Formats: sequence, C-alpha cells, structure tokens
Amino acid sequence: MALYDLVAPRLEECGDPRYRTADIRAADPLGADALLAALPAMNAGADVPALTVALRTLVPDLDRAAEWSVVDALAAMRDLGILLGSLKRHGTEPVAAVPEILPVLELLSRRTDMVPRDTVHHYTIWNPTGSRRRMYTGHPMEAHLQEAVRMAFPGLVAALDTCSRLARLEPYDPGFAVALDRIAHHLQSMVDSIDFTIARVTPEFFALTLRPYFEDIDVAGRAYLGPAATQVPLWPVDLTLWQCDRSAPAYDAFLADSVPYSLPSWRDFHARHAGGVSAVSKLSAAVSWETVERLPLQLAASAHALGRVLKILRTFRARHIGLARKAAYRDDLRLYEAGSGGAPVALLRSVLDLTRDNETMVYRATGGTRQRAGTR
Ligand code: HEM
Repeated sequence: MALYDLVAPRLEECGDPRYRTADIRAADPLGADALLAALPAMNAGADVPALTVALRTLVPDLDRAAEWSVVDALAAMRDLGILLGSLKRHGTEPVAAVPEILPVLELLSRRTDMVPRDTVHHYTIWNPTGSRRRMYTGHPMEAHLQEAVRMAFPGLVAALDTCSRLARLEPYDPGFAVALDRIAHHLQSMVDSIDFTIARVTPEFFALTLRPYFEDIDVAGRAYLGPAATQVPLWPVDLTLWQCDRSAPAYDAFLADSVPYSLPSWRDFHARHAGGVSAVSKLSAAVSWETVERLPLQLAASAHALGRVLKILRTFRARHIGLARKAAYRDDLRLYEAGSGGAPVALLRSVLDLTRDNETMVYRATGGTRQRAGTR
C-alpha cells in the first residue's frame, strides 16, 4: 500500500473538502472517463481538432456547475484542465479555441477558491488511479512522476500543521525541538520522492515528452502556469524555518508567483507567517546571549533539531537540482529557457545556497565547524 493511502484517511478527517481525496478521485461530474481514456491517443497524433471537440463536449451547463459541491467542482477542473494543457502543448490557446470554457473556468475558480485552471493537486493527488487515471501521454513514466508527487503530499500537509505550532514556540521551549523532529520525519517523503523520480523517470522523457504539457495558458488575459511539480508546497517549511526574514529577492519573487496555486488554507498560512520571525533567527538570537561552549541543554537540542531539518531540505534540493541540471535542462534536451514554474535552474541554485547558508549558520551558532558540503 502506498504511503499516501495510509495517511489520506487522516487528512480527510479535517473537514476541508479539498482533503477528501478519495471522493474527488472517484468523482466524474462531467462524465469524462471514456473520453479522457482516449486522450493519450489524441495527444500522440497531435490531433488538435479532436482535442477541441473533446473540450467543447465537456463544457458543462453553467447553472448545473453552479450547483456542484466543492468536491465535484475540483474533479471537473481536473478533467477540463488536462485538455487545456493538451491543446496548449500542440500550439493552441485553449480558451481562444473554445471560448465558452472561460465562464466555466471562472465559476470553478470561485467555487473552489483556487486559480482558474488545474494545478499540481488536480493532476496528482486528486487524479484517480488505475484505468481512470488521467494522463497526457499514458506512458508509465508519466504515472511514476504523478506517484512521486503524490507520495510527498501527506508529509507536507502534516508538516504544515507542525510548522504552525513551531512558529508559536521559542528555542528554550522543549516543544521547539519536538516540533522540528516531527517536521524532519514528515519531510523525509520529499527525499524519497526525488529518489523515486531519479530511479524511474528519464531526463529525456521529462524534457522532450512531458514538459511541453506544462506550458502556461491564457485565461482572460492572464497567464496561468501548468500543473507541474514546481507547485509542490515545500515553501511553508522554508517560510517558518528561514524564508520569512532571511530570504533573497529571487526566491521571494518565485514564492509570490507560486503561492496563488496553493490551497486556500496554505495561502492563509503564508499570509499569517510572511512577516514573522523565523526559527533560525529565533535560535541565533537566543544563542547570542549564551556561551557557546555551555549552551543550556534545551537550546542545544533545539539547534540540533533545526540543523537536522535544514539538512533534509538541503538533501532534497541537492538531488533535485542534479536532476534538473544534469538531465532535463541539458543543452541537447532543452526546449525551454525556464522551468515549468516559470523560473530558471539558477533559481534552484540560489534556493539551495540559501538553505545551506542557514544550515551552516545554525551549526556555527552552536560552535560547530561544519564545512560547506558538496551538492550530495
Ligand atoms: C524530472 C523531474 C523534475 C525536474 C526536471 C524538475 C525541475 C524543476 C525546475 C527547473 C524547477 C525551477 C522552478 C520552475 O520550474 O520554474 C523546479 C522547482 C521545484 N521542484 Fe522540481 N523537477 C522535477 C521533479 C520534482 C519532484 C518529483 C518534486 C517533488 C515532489 C519537485 C519539487 C520541486 C519544488 C518544491 C520546486 C520549487 C523550488 C524549491 O523548493 O527548491 N520537482 N523543479
């Protein structure tokens, strides 16, 4: 049984319909199952007329869509979304080709309180498995990438909760280290996810076959990014640990573009914590009042726990950048200057450097002499 299936029932208990993943996966409000099973063949043939007809066929009556539950509205956006990305991949702006889709996208956006197109949530955790799985290509490597993202989500949801708690604590509180140890446990799934991707998705497949489906589309004069892994919300952990007061303009700008693609509760989290004091800053202030050689036990435990979480973040990012750089954005494979989230690989370098600088700072603050590590 996949990790997600073990944790998902717990997520569904928290009341937000967006966490009712089993229901969203099961929902088929547009009756799209049969049509979307044929999508990989349409894409393989670059059959724009068939894709246009398919999208037009699925456009629901607005009055009917207005009555849908949030669960159905999310499932409908998922199914329209995979057609939007498919049309764009073959050079056609979907809303220009099927203008009657615009009021539907706007309605679904309002109903679900999310952007007016599909996101990484729709494409991965809200996507059914088995024969109903929605895919652009139908290739096993596309399914592997969807699974890689799915396995990261439960840990990130759990980490979000613990980050809220951490933000209310000080390094002298025993709960500070406990919360960080929990976050470390939850974040291990990010490392597992990237290892799974490296083992099962070739750079060639990602760069040449899958990446073109994640292009942005125009909705009422605004560009909306495709449902790529770039939107995986690792940023709440950064925000709480260091980003809220120790960041750099490039990462701040990337986050400003990424946060709108999150769930409403995650966007609230960002609004609440963006102006806060980070865990690294709290620790460094607390340590500055002490003699490094004789740190109170609790402070030393907090520092070590913080260092461990930063190390996990660094490990994920070092492996991830290796994948992005060595492989998918190699000169001979590169079709695009920017990643599917609109940012270049240079951004990944700067986020990795920031993560590592904060980790180094925590080690130094506690008298450690950690060398700047390599990228592994
Ligand atoms: C073949 C696989 C992948 C490639 C080539 C790739 C490439 C990239 C690139 C180029 C960026 C820069 C931003 C942008 O796209 O505009 C990015 C960002 C990001 N990607 Fe991936 N990625 C891959 C898989 C994954 C997976 C499986 C995950 C997590 C489950 C992931 C999580 C992230 C995150 C969280 C960011 C934001 C930057 C950060 O927090 O460090 N990626 N990716």
